[in-house]
Amino acid sequence: MCGIIGYTGPLAAKNVLLNGLSQLEYRGYDSAGIAFFGADQKVHVLKTVGKVARLRDLCAGIQEEIHCGIGHTRWATHGGVTAENAHPHQAGRVTMIHNGIIENYHQLTADFELEEKLISQTDTEVAARVLDALYDGDPLASLRRFQPLLKGSYSFCILFSDHPGEIYALRNVSPLVAAYTHSGSIVASDLTALIPYTKKYVVVPEDRVVKMTPYRMAFYDENGHEIQPEILEVNWDTDAAMKNGFPHFMLKEIHEQPDAMKNTILPRLTRGLPDFSEDGIPDQIFADCSQIRIVACGTAMHAGMVARAIMEPLLRIPVLVSVASEFRYEDPLVDSRTLAIVISQSGETIDTLAALRLSKKLGASVLSVVNVKGSTIARESDYVLYTHAGPEIAVASTKAYSVQLAALYMIICRMALVRGKMTEQDGCAFMSDLLDVIPAMESMIQRKEEIRQLVRPLVDKPDAFFIGRNLDYAFSLEGALKLKEISYIHADAYAAGELKHGTIALIADQVPVVALATQDRIFSKTISNVREVKARGAYVILIAKESAAVDEGLADVCIRIPDLHDRFTVFPIAVVLQLIAYYASLLKGLDVDQPRNLAKSVTVE
Ligand code: M6R
Repeated sequence: MCGIIGYTGPLAAKNVLLNGLSQLEYRGYDSAGIAFFGADQKVHVLKTVGKVARLRDLCAGIQEEIHCGIGHTRWATHGGVTAENAHPHQAGRVTMIHNGIIENYHQLTADFELEEKLISQTDTEVAARVLDALYDGDPLASLRRFQPLLKGSYSFCILFSDHPGEIYALRNVSPLVAAYTHSGSIVASDLTALIPYTKKYVVVPEDRVVKMTPYRMAFYDENGHEIQPEILEVNWDTDAAMKNGFPHFMLKEIHEQPDAMKNTILPRLTRGLPDFSEDGIPDQIFADCSQIRIVACGTAMHAGMVARAIMEPLLRIPVLVSVASEFRYEDPLVDSRTLAIVISQSGETIDTLAALRLSKKLGASVLSVVNVKGSTIARESDYVLYTHAGPEIAVASTKAYSVQLAALYMIICRMALVRGKMTEQDGCAFMSDLLDVIPAMESMIQRKEEIRQLVRPLVDKPDAFFIGRNLDYAFSLEGALKLKEISYIHADAYAAGELKHGTIALIADQVPVVALATQDRIFSKTISNVREVKARGAYVILIAKESAAVDEGLADVCIRIPDLHDRFTVFPIAVVLQLIAYYASLLKGLDVDQPRNLAKSVTVE
């Protein structure tokens, strides 16, 4: 939540900051601001409520050449969406932008007697005033005194008015990546803002301070000694973070799914079987565990629900899926024979990270499925299976979900082989089925116009219901989330058999019900539930396999997906459900990529 960027160097800083903020805007878009050293060597601040486009208009009046500045795009946590609460915040010689939450800001307000001085309602202004109170003209020494006073998560970029041309940055938990290039020094919340300038970067180590000048970037530990963080290289380019002719990132990312699947699966196949030796994941963790705990949030958690529905019956060990924000507080049964599978696209979701830390503390082995290389979750896990989706910019997760599933299916297969629940021949068949989903996804993407048409009856409805049994129920959860987060249609998923225990009371004339019936074993059971809602007037969109026998009149619309093995239908279904949500949002004229109240990475509790 919140995107931050800092730049000092020979380029026009105004452009670097504004372009960077546009890339980071998916992290929050309530308000935006920049601060910079002007030709008069003084710090100037411009900030506004609204999106980066509005800040860009505000900055149009800046005629002078700027070479050093910081920029922020906000997702409000403390304090409403107002210009006062927008970043940067200033106190004396300090100008600061912040991503995260300072949990002890009340205490700091009292300790430093700030109550009367605060202009905004933000924890960030408190931090800026504390730092100003500690500041003695030596930024590094002052930051060393400042950092131990803070509780919570943060990444900061700071200008000291008596050090023109310099930017200081530090972090705890909240992400920050930095690079020194021949075009100067740059730091940002994520790589999308850096890649136009360089492919080499460092993840700013936690509790370290970065000093940036146009000529150098240096990192200091808590004793003031310079350290050399590891230099990493990103394997995607600027195109991956651009729309490339698509009207929205979401549609582009839906189209990218077949390639993302190939990139995630193919490099890990040896003689048709999953092979994690290059990932450094030993078979031992699969052999030794007596239970699996999957923890994640949102879409990633839904991928875990699908995996669970296959894992437990196949592996015959308990598999539990927990919402990460609950797991932390439910005193979970985790021990040294637990394999914790942590799933996160960003690798920065704070609740998922906390669940990971708790699992490790309780003795579990932690295997994470992460998309962003070098992210905090990836670095703190015992083992990482990276998904190779490239950057996912739209707030609504699409390709990340598919590749999380692909990675989880590979884990399932490897684990079943290791535990003697599958022969090599079965394993090869399983992986061959997994590869077969790629053309199936392609075929559904090609049918997007058909899906656009059938979405029309949904868009003026306040509610929609998604139903399915077993795996279809797990898929439904994701369909409902996708629809509600970008179309604002209230949508919920129900196990189809559970409907008549209460929810069916909500089914009335023309209420949309998206029914998933792709599991052969229980097809007729689900169809009975479809009849029940149809009998009460529902507008039914049925998703079934090509060869499934569907009676005339059972559904208002039937979307056929290719005939795949039951376990694998999720992949084409995911495409259909994503397209339903996409077109519902589009037809309602909403902001598809940046829905209200949301941000891509949830880095606050
Ligand atoms: O980065 P993560 O995978 O940890 O994010 C988890 C959720 O915040 C995320 O999947 C969210 O639910 C999606 N925006 C939904 O489309």
